[in-house]
This record gives sequence, C-alpha cells and structure tokens, in this order.
Amino acid sequence: MKEVDLVIRGGKVVSPDRIVEASVAIAAGEIVALGHDDLMPPARETFQADGLYLLPGAIDSHVHFRDPGYPHKETWKSGSAAAACGGVTTVFEMPNTNPPTGTVEALRIKQRAAESSYVDYGIHGLLGDDTIDRLEELLEAGVTSFKAFVGNTFGNLPAPTDGALLEGFEKLAPLGIRTVVHAENSSIMARRQLRMEAAGRIDALAHLASRPAVCEIEAIGRVLALAEWTGARVHIAHHSSRDSLFLLREAKRRGVDVTVETCPQYLLLNTGDMTRLGGILRLNPPIREAHHNQPLWDALVEGVIDMIATDHAPHTPEEKSRANIWECDCGFPGVETQMPLMLTEINRGRASLMDYVRWSAANPAKAWGLYGKKGVIAVGAHADIAIVDLEREGVLSEGKLHSISKISPWNGRVVKGYPLHTLVRGRFVVRDGRLVEEAAGWGRSVKDVQRMPDPAPRNMETYMSNILATPAGVPPTATPRREAA
Ligand code: NCD
Ligand code: ZN
Repeated sequence: MKEVDLVIRGGKVVSPDRIVEASVAIAAGEIVALGHDDLMPPARETFQADGLYLLPGAIDSHVHFRDPGYPHKETWKSGSAAAACGGVTTVFEMPNTNPPTGTVEALRIKQRAAESSYVDYGIHGLLGDDTIDRLEELLEAGVTSFKAFVGNTFGNLPAPTDGALLEGFEKLAPLGIRTVVHAENSSIMARRQLRMEAAGRIDALAHLASRPAVCEIEAIGRVLALAEWTGARVHIAHHSSRDSLFLLREAKRRGVDVTVETCPQYLLLNTGDMTRLGGILRLNPPIREAHHNQPLWDALVEGVIDMIATDHAPHTPEEKSRANIWECDCGFPGVETQMPLMLTEINRGRASLMDYVRWSAANPAKAWGLYGKKGVIAVGAHADIAIVDLEREGVLSEGKLHSISKISPWNGRVVKGYPLHTLVRGRFVVRDGRLVEEAAGWGRSVKDVQRMPDPAPRNMETYMSNILATPAGVPPTATPRREAA
C-alpha cells in the first residue's frame, strides 16, 4: 500500500447519523481511507486521538472579516485564525466591507486580502440595486453566492428595492445560486428608531423596541414570495424570532429552496442578559425575549432551521461600549466561541453530537454546494476536521480571542467541550489548542469545488399550484428528527 501523509487513530468519527470508532488516512489533503485501524495504509505521521471525537470542521455561512475597509476591527488573517481556533474550517464572508463586494474590482481587493486566510472560504457578493447588472461577472470572478441587506445594518448599505430583489432572483434562479438575506424591514426600523431617539431613549432595550419581530416576519414573507415566484434559492441569515418560523415551515413544505441559519446568541441569550451586557449585545436582528430561545432549538431539531452560523461581527471595545445605544456598533465576534458553546449544550443533553454536526457542517455544506468535498468525514472529502475533547472544561475569555475584537458577551461563560486540533485539507492549522502560525495563507476559495445542484424548473403555474395545494391551518408535517446516540 502506498504511504499516506497522516493517519489519525483512536478517535470517534461523527456524522449526522452515526458515531463510529475509526481511523482516518489522509493523503494530499483528502481522506483516502476510513475504517478499522488494521486496514490503514502506512503513514509518514500518526496522530493519536484516543478519547477524542473527530467532527467535520464547522462551516460558518456568516462571518464579517472587515477586510478591506476596517482593519482595526478585523483582518482576514485575524478572523480566520479565530475560525481555525474555533474548529471552523470554512467560512463564507460578507460583502459589507469598504469597498462593498459589489464590483469585480472590489472583489479582487478582497480576494487578495483572503490570501492570508488560515481556513477555506467562500465570498458572498453584494446584491443591491446597482449590482444587478454585474451578478454574472461577479460569479465569473469568484463569488460563490450573494447577500442582500434587506434590513439596514452595519455599513449602511441601502436595502435593495423589491424590484431589484425580484430582478436579482430572476437572474440567479436559473443559475441555482443561493442568496443570503438579512431579513428585516428597514422602513419600520428607521421610523421606530427615530421615535425612540426623539423620546430620549438611549438604553439597550430601545434597540430591540426599534426592531420588533414583525420586521422579521414581514421581510421573510416578502423574500419567500419572491423566491417562490422565481424559483431562486435563498438563505435566511441570523434567524432570531419564534414568530416567523411558521412562514419558513410552510415555505419548505411547499418546496421553496430556503435554508435558514440561527446563531448561538439567539439560542442562548435574551433580554435578561441586557442589563449586564448593555451595548455589547447590540446586534441585528436584536437579542429578544427569553420566550424565543426554546422555539429556535425546537426549529433546529425539526429541520425548519438548518444550521448554526455565527454572524461573527467584530468591533473594538470602544465601539461597543458607548453610553448611547444608538452609537454602539452592531454585532460582536463569534466564530471562535460557537463550537465550545454548542458542545456545552450537547453535553447538557439538549441535542446529540450527530445533530450538532448536521447543523454545523453537513447542512451548510449542502446549502452552498460543497457536500461530499466538505461537511463530512468520508473517503474523497477534504480532510477538514475538528478534533474535539468533549470532557474539557474551561471559561471563555475575551482577552484570549484571536479576533482583533476583544469584546464578547460570552466572556466568563463556563463551557465543556473544546476543539483541540483543527485540520484544513489535511494540514494542522491548530494543534494542541495553538494556532500554527506558518499555516496563514493555507486557506483557499471553495469556488473550485462548489457544485450547486441544478435548479428545479419553476414558473407561475407551479407557484400557484403550490400555494393552492397548501390547505390553511394544517399543522406541520415534519416530525422531530432525533437520532439515538
Ligand atoms: C453585522 C456587522 O457588524 O457587519 N452586524 C450585526 O449586528 N449583525 C451586519 C449584519 O450581519 O447584519
Ligand atoms: Zn445581517
């Protein structure tokens, strides 16, 4: 048998439907054998993973690495280092940089910045009124997907008009390309915020009051209508409220190709944390009342929400700590803390480790056309692996984050379950909890391996028959999927 680069022995390999003790052989960045240790080829290096779990590296559909434009908040190097240390092996980066990723020229600048990445990446191009005519050339030049800021947020990019959104979807539907949508209603929020400011409200709760859940309900409903009409694939970013879940459940049942992410902050934090954390918790959509937390977990288990992303949105401590809530920048870093936070919940029995890899790796890989190469530990896949100690306990500390943004609502939080080693295409980018500095620049674009499945043909008749085929008031057909460990 031909000698391979690395064999990882003694660990338990996790997939969405099983956990098996298996050795993994890696050559030229790919998994070439998986199974009983006796069957492994000879290897130049052996890594003992006794007592540890091998998870497909997490795929984070939503990070802001700020580069170009805001290097004092984050760079590709610092952001991707944080990802690697958090067991994240692929990120999708957002276009609200400066310049925004809405022209080929701006994309080229970002691609050069991304050359310092530790982890693999996709780049979401900007879908806005003035980029509609450039979508094809942006795809040609390397974006994997698009992002529409339907709700106003950091960067103040104007929300696309409904006309532009429809046109964008009409162009992207036949190409099978998925568009991420920040689904909040900008006009409601702008009006409410003005009223709050006029009333002298500058407290953290005023931010939530300016962005009620109806903003999410309305925007999701509108986006789903346009997606269903055109057959375009869409992805709902940072889903935050229980009240709009019914729209997604119904749309999925009708066959709309919508994928949905939520983030640890919407699952684990609520307004009860606001007095303690103030402006640190300001983000979009807002952290809501406690009654939203459990329904979001339930929606993950049911499959209405597909995945965990982080909306890693770094700002400096100064930008996050201003006395007036309207002057605090929105968002906080998260790419490094997602895995320990979620593994802690898995350890508490909230879901299984198999559920977790479905949400963190398999489902995002499917949404972005990477499954098979990424999102799974299997022969032929990239060796993107997070080696995890489920027993390891610790306290999250913002000072230790690899992000430039050293401010986090998770500071001081007790966790159990850590990624200790991270491999990207067979190379250790983190080993024994330490970043492998020389691996900066190892990351590459996933564009070459992206294969979006052919889009289903859709037209007005299928749209109408789908609508008519959904009797009102029928309870959801999906039943919770909970595999036994
Ligand atoms: C994000 C940012 O800072 O770029 N902020 C946020 O509050 N979520 C933008 C975004 O994803 O909406
Ligand atoms: Zn957003």
